[in-house]
Amino acid sequence: MLNWYEKNKRDLPWRHHSDPYAIWVSEIMLQQTQVATVIPYYLRFLERFPNMASLAKAKESEVLQYWSGLGYYRRARLLHRGVQKVWQENAGILPQEIESLKGLPGIGPYTAGAIASIAFGQAAPLVDGNVVRVLSRYFGLKGHAKSPELLRTLWEIAAILVSPSRPGDFNQGLMELGATVCRTRLPACERCPLAKGCVALNSQDPEAFPETPPLPKTLKLTRLAAVAQRGETILLVQAQHQRWFQGLWGLPGEFLDREADDEGLLSHLSQAYPGLKFSRMVALPATRHAITHHRITTQAWSLQVSGKLTPNPSFKKMRFFPKGALPSLALPNFDRKVLQAGGFCP
Ligand code: ADE
Repeated sequence: MLNWYEKNKRDLPWRHHSDPYAIWVSEIMLQQTQVATVIPYYLRFLERFPNMASLAKAKESEVLQYWSGLGYYRRARLLHRGVQKVWQENAGILPQEIESLKGLPGIGPYTAGAIASIAFGQAAPLVDGNVVRVLSRYFGLKGHAKSPELLRTLWEIAAILVSPSRPGDFNQGLMELGATVCRTRLPACERCPLAKGCVALNSQDPEAFPETPPLPKTLKLTRLAAVAQRGETILLVQAQHQRWFQGLWGLPGEFLDREADDEGLLSHLSQAYPGLKFSRMVALPATRHAITHHRITTQAWSLQVSGKLTPNPSFKKMRFFPKGALPSLALPNFDRKVLQAGGFCP
């Protein structure tokens, strides 16, 4: 494993760092997101927040802005809180013990294992989706990738296997093998350093491990949204209770269990923003967006607005933003698509 990793590892920006903070940031970004997507965000984020001090002192809105487009914003909020905690309570020194790491916001067993092994050279195991695939195939283990029994077994195996002298390289090697060779579909077994002993390969059907759980049924959702303009500004809001994108500015609108129509939007807007008057409604192209197993279609309208914003307890905040500010704001991707489809932002 170690020899293979040494020869085949990709040159990735976080592999040039030994700073635990930089490794922490990279491991949070790499959760649920592919390496190629993460790289530009990681570089920009570290340029703006090169150390814990800069991130601890930053406003959450700016942190989210640098995360904008990566998705799963909860990760960014928890990272920010975690860094603030270490900065305030531990003089900016990240603890080295697995258990203390796990006590920090946003750090679960995987991230604790990654930081302990990669940044601190501790012989700590880790299991992520790639490791599940590599080890369940190599040992021919039954169970689907999220099954608690399989995961318990894999954590035990990973703890036995991890190299005491080079735990970070060993763990990254397993993940690298999973990402580049032992792929979900069409694994490149001919290039695999573990092919000889691999139970799944010898069973002739390596793709059968781990077993696939039944997929959740896709759910279709419809959303109404308004691009409400007053002069050269656009109304954005932050909803108080929201399933997705809590804390991000987004277009006014709502989810529906029925077809979207312009009357529905007008009645939503007049209830939610009683001080405003809306006119000149023009339908924009419908846009589609997927979040987990939800397939969301947004029907948006462009409108002109007059009148004043009045406080509404179901919104944390509402504000008219200059159109020029849109590209640099952290917006939910489904709203960015609406704005792009309507030509309001690049
Ligand atoms: N996926 C998550 N963290 C990784 C790392 N450090 N190396 C390779 N793949 C990863």
